[in-house]
Amino acid sequence: MAVKFLAIRIRTLTVALICLLAFTAQALAAMTFIYPDDKSWVVRSDHFIIKLNTVDVTGVRVNVNNVPGDLLEVGTPEYRKAFRDMLILQPLWDPGKNQVVVEAFKGEERVETATAEIFYFVGNDYALIPPEYKPISLHTPEREKVCVHCHNMSAAATAGVEKESPCFTCHRKVLTARYVHGPTGTYSCAYCHTGTGRMKYAVTRRGGALCYDCHTDRGTVFKGFKYPHGPVAAGMCEYCHDPHGSFYAMQLRGSVNDICLSCHESVRKGIHIVRTATGEGHILSGRPDPSKPGSGREMSCVSCHDPHGGDVRYYFQSKAEDRMALCQLCHNK
Ligand code: HEC
Ligand code: HEC
Ligand code: HEC
Ligand code: HEC
Ligand code: HEC
Ligand code: HEC
Ligand code: HEC
Ligand code: HEC
Repeated sequence: MAVKFLAIRIRTLTVALICLLAFTAQALAAMTFIYPDDKSWVVRSDHFIIKLNTVDVTGVRVNVNNVPGDLLEVGTPEYRKAFRDMLILQPLWDPGKNQVVVEAFKGEERVETATAEIFYFVGNDYALIPPEYKPISLHTPEREKVCVHCHNMSAAATAGVEKESPCFTCHRKVLTARYVHGPTGTYSCAYCHTGTGRMKYAVTRRGGALCYDCHTDRGTVFKGFKYPHGPVAAGMCEYCHDPHGSFYAMQLRGSVNDICLSCHESVRKGIHIVRTATGEGHILSGRPDPSKPGSGREMSCVSCHDPHGGDVRYYFQSKAEDRMALCQLCHNK
């Protein structure tokens, strides 16, 4: 299929490009950065969307932080037919500030140069985003107006078969994780993305307030713990779990130990539990977990600690009352 072939071919030409269009093409109108636009910050590096506002341009080159991309051929009849004056790229932003220069060519001649500064935010502390950058939403009436000719932008009927979900075409990536979260896998996107005001698909409830909706049994158990784990009691489920999916089981955002150590760094540095014959602490990874023989599970922090809390100190697994009882889950067996 021409469009598909085109999209794939273009993608191999560069790290970036995908699609384009132009319904209200005005000759020589300056190009518009649709998403993200100049001086905005993003948390993902998924799309960079430009409207050229003319169909006269034959080539476009995108330079990010002084690294020039390939010349993208946008003048072919096939390209025009599918995408018109739209340019949909998959950028690879560098963390922090990105200086973007987009050059448009007519044959050999450079006819336009436009620039934008985009801040790619990686981390948890939003206070670190410089104040001159503003947040941005793709799903506002003005921006959606540009897409609606070619894409179904309706939130209705999002649940069910993937091909019937209007979210599918553009948000495939959310589903490509190895472990996909239940409601994301069934395209029940709108359950969580109820929207608010101008941000059509904003998530209005977060963490525990959202998760316990469906995981009511977990809510009952977690809230009943005598010793609830700090971040769980604070409803910070999303710190550890990705609501869409991830490479790790239970949609964890990283390996168990990496997640735990991101807050409990002292455990990495110190001697945990015992000084063994080698002078180091107890083994915390890389060996089969003897308390779960045949499960294929390896030793990790959750071999001994319940990640959500417990009725015994340190949330020991199997409600082990003390150190000795815990040791016996694996030793002297
Ligand atoms: C025409 C393509 C397209 C369609 C259809 C689409 N999206 Fe998006 N959406 C985007 C792009 C592009 C972004 C910008 C972020 C990115 O690059 O992933 C975005 C961003 C978002 C965001 C982040 C907040 C925001 O407003 O920028 C949410 C949430 C979202 N989409 C949900 C949905 C849901 C739910 C559906 C289905 C009802 C949907 N989208 C349909 C293209 C689309
Ligand atoms: C002139 C028609 C047209 C317009 C307007 C248009 N697109 Fe597209 N778009 C396409 C076509 C054709 C595809 C390829 C569809 C496919 O691969 O199934 C596509 C694919 C996409 C993809 C998926 C790219 C991929 O393969 O990962 C995204 C994301 C997207 N468009 C976003 C948008 C957004 C956001 C807007 C509005 C700002 C928009 N498009 C406006 C025609 C258009
Ligand atoms: C279990 C609830 C839940 C479901 C189901 C869900 N999302 Fe989300 N989604 C979230 C949360 C929470 C965020 C983070 C919002 C934020 O940071 O403002 C988010 C963020 C996003 C974003 C913004 C980029 C990002 O990853 O931070 C996009 C795009 C998105 N979701 C698309 C989708 C699509 C498409 C579906 C359906 C296939 C879907 N979501 C299903 C909860 C959900
Ligand atoms: C719309 C309902 C719904 C919401 C909201 C929801 N979940 Fe889920 N969740 C499910 C379903 C359905 C499954 C799949 C259950 C299964 O396979 O046993 C699931 C599975 C999971 C699993 C894997 C459980 C397992 O045993 O494999 C985890 C972890 C999880 N959800 C965490 C969360 C977190 C964290 C949130 C909040 C960000 C959340 N869920 C919000 C419905 C929901
Ligand atoms: C400190 C990190 C962390 C936080 C915070 C956290 N979880 Fe988990 N969660 C985990 C880990 C790790 C596992 C996997 C445990 C295992 O493999 O034995 C897990 C497993 C799960 C499971 C599947 C197994 C089970 O116990 O049912 C569900 C459901 C779940 N979490 C829901 C939640 C909800 C809801 C919240 C917020 C109230 C939350 N989690 C907060 C780390 C966390
Ligand atoms: C977001 C930060 C965060 C993450 C991630 C985190 N913890 Fe915690 N943890 C805390 C806080 C806060 C406390 C409460 C500290 C206190 O009460 O002194 C705590 C307490 C604990 C305690 C009890 C300490 C005591 O002295 O009673 C244990 C055990 C523990 N965490 C284990 C884990 C494990 C295992 C993981 C990974 C599954 C993990 N933590 C991930 C923040 C975190
Ligand atoms: C083999 C069992 C076992 C494993 C695996 C384990 N712990 Fe512990 N942990 C304990 C015991 C036992 C204690 C009680 C304190 C003591 O006796 O030293 C404890 C105490 C703690 C405490 C509270 C006291 C302190 O040292 O701050 C934290 C936090 C903690 N563990 C985090 C972790 C993290 C993070 C991991 C994974 C990197 C982990 N534990 C792996 C057994 C274990
Ligand atoms: C979840 C299972 C598990 C628990 C609980 C556990 N261990 Fe271990 N322990 C292991 C594994 C696995 C090894 C590595 C065995 C090997 O090297 O063959 C190990 C090794 C050791 C060693 C080193 C043995 C040697 O030959 O150097 C000591 C000492 C030790 N554990 C003490 C303890 C103590 C004390 C406790 C209770 C506070 C405890 N363990 C709880 C799984 C566990």
